[in-house]
Amino acid sequence: MSRTILEVVDLKKHYRQRAGIFAALQWRERFIPAVDGVSFYLKEHETVGLVGESGCGKTTIGRTILRLTPVTSGRIVFDGHDVTAMSTRELRPLRSQMQMIFQDLDAALNPKMRVRDVLREAIITHHRLGDGEVTRRTHELLEQVNLKKSKLSSFPRELSGGEKRRVGIARALAVGAHFIVADEPTSALDVSIQAQVVNLLRDLQRQLGLSYLFISHDLEVVQLVSHKVAVMYLGKIVEMGLANRIARAARHPYTHILWSALVEKKSREAVPVSARTGAWGVFDFERPTSGCRFAPRCAVYEARGRPAVCTDAATEPLLREIGGGHYVACHFPL
Ligand SMILES: Nc1ncnc2c1ncn2[C@@H]1O[C@H](COP(=O)(O)OP(=O)(O)OP(=O)(O)O)[C@@H](O)[C@H]1O
Ligand code: SF4
Ligand SMILES: [Mg+2]
Repeated sequence: MSRTILEVVDLKKHYRQRAGIFAALQWRERFIPAVDGVSFYLKEHETVGLVGESGCGKTTIGRTILRLTPVTSGRIVFDGHDVTAMSTRELRPLRSQMQMIFQDLDAALNPKMRVRDVLREAIITHHRLGDGEVTRRTHELLEQVNLKKSKLSSFPRELSGGEKRRVGIARALAVGAHFIVADEPTSALDVSIQAQVVNLLRDLQRQLGLSYLFISHDLEVVQLVSHKVAVMYLGKIVEMGLANRIARAARHPYTHILWSALVEKKSREAVPVSARTGAWGVFDFERPTSGCRFAPRCAVYEARGRPAVCTDAATEPLLREIGGGHYVACHFPL
């Protein structure tokens, strides 16, 4: 049985933000509970998919797990080490084992560095190698991510979106990482290129025994690549289970919305832009509803005549197992 590579327990990340110019003058701050009590684990060689709408806290989870952003509270155990409060020096040997493929590669790749230098820098940061060894490793990485040698002299602006993703993946592999947070690795890519990136990540997982936290707002992609899927809403996981259960037997009303949005999106793609209607609600962290955060958008809540149990602060629905490792945070699962 494969061992647990990552365990996240009751993780919270609350950002502080000055609220408006007058509040700023009075040093008044507001808190954004971007991640608000998230727990899950990841087994070696497996993929956990994290899905949810924009702003629900996916990137924040990835960044806090890798300690790129400080944690507010909770516990992160990576490969048996409690990394939650480790100093930068203590973290250093573990850094080579856990890496991130960043959502915004335009910001993450230095525009003044050629691909050769990006990879070289990643290789020598964690390994003392001679020039010959660095060149050999660079070529090995190019092969692993199917990138032509001619791209070594390119700057990021000279690469296509798909090529940039491959450089991001190669950079994560360069340091020898076996746990990778892949943040929206397929976003802003054509469907055919998305499939290539997904297949590449899967092949690398098989060849190198990688474990992924795969972050995306696209439930279809997440469900395809993941062993387990966690659905997030406003900083919390509302449903979690094996990917095929989330695909075929989702129980949380929000997961149903995500699936129907996908169906709608596919049918809307056939409709001219001018004829499209409807928009996603905007997340508002400033005024969270008491009790279930999803209530303002929940069809089940409306259909049941707005039961108090859904919105009572004392009875906020908690994630509970409904069988077969399937967890749902809802008083009236579908
Ligand atoms: N450094 C920061 N300071 C203050 N607030 C932040 C910061 N980073 C993120 N946030 C806020 O935290 C919330 C979660 O952001 P996050 O980037 O984790 O969402 P996401 O799910 O990755 O969204 P997307 O799908 O658009 O990438 C948002 O409301 C965002 O505005
Ligand atoms: S707890 Fe109530 S409001 Fe929340 S998702 Fe379930 S039915 Fe909807
Ligand atoms: Mg994000």
